[in-house]
Amino acid sequence: MPPSATPHSLSTISESQQLDLRRLATAAAEHSYSPYSHFRVGAALLLQDGSIVTGCNVENCSYRLTSCAEQAAIARAVSERGPDIRLRAVAVANLNNSASMPCGACRQTLTEFGSDDVLVLYPGENGSPEATTLGALLPHAFRMEFLEAK
Ligand code: THU
Repeated sequence: MPPSATPHSLSTISESQQLDLRRLATAAAEHSYSPYSHFRVGAALLLQDGSIVTGCNVENCSYRLTSCAEQAAIARAVSERGPDIRLRAVAVANLNNSASMPCGACRQTLTEFGSDDVLVLYPGENGSPEATTLGALLPHAFRMEFLEAK
């Protein structure tokens, strides 16, 4: 499915819930620690139990140790709610008026806790609110089932 297509899961999450999730991601970005890139990112995870967990990017002077907002949110969600969390939707936002989608590493991190139909909300070019699914962002993902011995 191209990123612009309307994902099925869109219909199961109300417009106002989606707006809330985008707003919470934007609010989370206010806490961003990003003295190197100055790219302030926030993420809000809507879990299957209806709760919402947020995170922001946390950079490091050893650049590769930077944690993306989505990864921070996942680490927080597992820390606070335990290992069985499952994703329903994810919103990503930034305070730089830029388009931004989850990076490749974050797509894999999110896939660990969600199926292909997880709704992903992100800002497109000129700030337009875009939506897609995790499956569209990371087709043919590596999944834990592959680790099972045959
Ligand atoms: N970043 C995120 O937080 N999430 C993404 O999916 C893409 C990139 C952060 C990492 C770094 O702190 C800054 O944005 C610039 O790459």
